[in-house]
Amino acid sequence: MDAIWNDLKALAAGVEGRSLVSLFEDDSRAARFSRRMDDMLFDFSKTQIDDTVLARLIDLARAAGVEARREAMFSGDKINETEGRAVLHTALRAESGPIRVDGQDVMPGVLETRARMAAFADKIRAGEIKGAGGRYSDVVNIGIGGSDLGPAMATLALAPWHDGPRVHYVSNVDGAHIHDVLKGLDPARTLVIVASKTFTTIETMTNAQTARDWMGRAVADPAKQFVALSSAVDLTSAFGIDPERVFGFEDWVGGRYSLWGPIGLGLMLAVGPERFGEFLQGAREMDDHFRAAELDENLPVLLALVGIWHAQVQGHATRTVLPYDQRLSRLPAYLQQLEMESNGKRVAMDGSDLALPSGPVVWGEPGTNGQHAFYQLIHQGTRVVPCEFLVAAEGHEPELAHHHRLLVANCLAQSEALMRGRSLAEARAIMAAKGLEGAELERQARHRVFPGNRPSTTLIYPKLTPAMLGRIIALYEHRVFVEGVILGINSFDQWGVELGKELAKSLEPVLSGASDGRGKDGSTLALVAFARGEG
Ligand code: F6P
Repeated sequence: MDAIWNDLKALAAGVEGRSLVSLFEDDSRAARFSRRMDDMLFDFSKTQIDDTVLARLIDLARAAGVEARREAMFSGDKINETEGRAVLHTALRAESGPIRVDGQDVMPGVLETRARMAAFADKIRAGEIKGAGGRYSDVVNIGIGGSDLGPAMATLALAPWHDGPRVHYVSNVDGAHIHDVLKGLDPARTLVIVASKTFTTIETMTNAQTARDWMGRAVADPAKQFVALSSAVDLTSAFGIDPERVFGFEDWVGGRYSLWGPIGLGLMLAVGPERFGEFLQGAREMDDHFRAAELDENLPVLLALVGIWHAQVQGHATRTVLPYDQRLSRLPAYLQQLEMESNGKRVAMDGSDLALPSGPVVWGEPGTNGQHAFYQLIHQGTRVVPCEFLVAAEGHEPELAHHHRLLVANCLAQSEALMRGRSLAEARAIMAAKGLEGAELERQARHRVFPGNRPSTTLIYPKLTPAMLGRIIALYEHRVFVEGVILGINSFDQWGVELGKELAKSLEPVLSGASDGRGKDGSTLALVAFARGEG
């Protein structure tokens, strides 16, 4: 591995500053540095990856044991070694087994829960299961992190298919969130989903209690209008939720990978079990592709290798994801958890220090909005930010096709502009045409130079359907997995979130005045005093 990393570093030094535009003197470049999976095209030709680099990156994946690890994941081996758990979110979208954990086939349970969810969703959507005030008009999903970001992102993404009750998402412990969501709703016609893998998360349990109090003021038996999605089924009963209304899952599903099972109930209620099934089917297609395709034809592997090339080899500390799709506006937030909670680690699986930078900082916003906000830095800042564009060839509103044409034009224009840039000579000519000359022309021209050579990739697909969304999310999940294997880390734990949770617990009594905060630092105590109105 060390030799491959060294080669890659040397290759990166060798291509630094090479003109990306010049790479396209090879007419076959666009075709050779893009891959298709059915009707989905991943173009990575606007990067410095060439044949030699790609071959070495593939060597890296092979040497890291991606293929064996991939098989271990799909087969139910306990690859989440720090928690002693299998990693089987792929089972949640599988059609059949056997898929064994500790010798037990998990598929009968998965299929039974999926069928129960579908039957429940059908009845809610048909008005056969009603609230105290009649047919459910609204659903409020209370959850946070993986119990919120996935279903919230997907529910928004699939808005054209909404034909069930309105589905809202509450996550923040900030009372403003639940207050504003519940404000317009009729408690007698609202179903509350408490989504929490552990059923202990303070934000979710606080919001769930608030929702129950709200409902209890209007409805005689509020628990009847509650549903729980959790792997801690014992705790859901303690909260008073009827076991019939509990959809459980196992500890081999990580929170940020849980959208495909019970945590997806909000989405299923919004679009119906059939569309939800198509969503699973899309993900399954990506699983099959990931599992079977050769490494250099494998979309998740290539997306990961592009990521490794930019972050660990070229040293770019961030990457931005830019969906040109308003309905994917929560995708960057979703990917922030998926990528950073998975690969933001400084210790390798064996407990040694990570020799390489951890996964990059991931951020983004939908286009075209981002263009009018932070693209300035991407085009002209001193740091290089590799960009990942996503766009559908076709929109959902035929009567607004001209909007969509503009959207696609902007997406493609940005990747072209990032690559091409604008030289000083071109900027001078523009300024001269405006009548400037001499020192002023020179000064103004310099501000209008775009260095170019900024790398980007584009994922383009025909239309954002439920199946396509499933494929895209599974593509990113597997990308994160491959990057994690190459970095030698465990992508499936998240110890880094624990310390803050513990300290928040110890600070709550300091804020309420029940504890004097002995042992806390001066800054924290001064902030507490201010929050208490004593500062
Ligand atoms: O604190 C991080 C985390 O554990 C995430 O990994 C998880 O998705 C989120 O909190 C919510 O956890 P739960 O579903 O158990 O409430």
